[in-house]
Amino acid sequence: MKILNRKQIIVALDYDSLKEANSTAKLLDPEIYRLKIGKQLFTAEGPKIIENFNKQGFDIFLDLKLHDIPNTVYKALKNLLKYEIWMTNIHLLGGEEMIQAAREARESIKSESLLIGVSVLTSLSEKNIKNIGFDMQIPELVKNLSMTAKQNKIDGVVCSVKEVSEIKRNFGEDFITVTPGIRVQQKNDDQSRVATLEEATKNGSDYIVLGREITASENISKMLKKVESYII
Ligand code: C5P
Repeated sequence: MKILNRKQIIVALDYDSLKEANSTAKLLDPEIYRLKIGKQLFTAEGPKIIENFNKQGFDIFLDLKLHDIPNTVYKALKNLLKYEIWMTNIHLLGGEEMIQAAREARESIKSESLLIGVSVLTSLSEKNIKNIGFDMQIPELVKNLSMTAKQNKIDGVVCSVKEVSEIKRNFGEDFITVTPGIRVQQKNDDQSRVATLEEATKNGSDYIVLGREITASENISKMLKKVESYII
């Protein structure tokens, strides 16, 4: 079934070295996939990793989930956005002032990078949320955080597939949803709120993050063929 568009899949290069990341990236066509660089690879290799993949023609989603006082987020983002970054993110639990600071940082250097907010990590369960002290269920918390993102004029949110349709209904079709925790086939791991590719597209997810599904697969090329069989 052809359910995915080109560049709708973002591959999370969660590796410890440029060498490992490159060996997977060379199996990926930049016209079909975007790349996600997260904390693991970024802390191992630093910002040069961004230039490395730009040169290979990839769009980069820099997933550092910034969460700090507004002034620090402003300055960190200004530094990061000097690089060619297609999309980056902050953590919405940082509060409205922090979200505004992030937006101002982007404006101040006239960056066109998309800025999205992490709502609730897809690894968290209802029990985790309750133990932290939130007196509400995950969908309501995600909705509240998404509203803060929308009101403070950032481009969208990272959320679980289950929450996508509600977010689109409340905040509009052009409010971007990025969904991690996606499996090509259903299985259990530390992502509490997982969904399949089919569920993700059916619910209207704009961008789908695939991590270990690809990077930990025994035969990456075979797994990519399977993923590509869904691409129009
Ligand atoms: O390996 P897996 O497919 O579970 O990878 C998911 C990726 O998405 C990881 O890089 C993780 O940091 C990221 N992520 C997530 N939950 C969020 C936001 C990002 O799992 N809410």
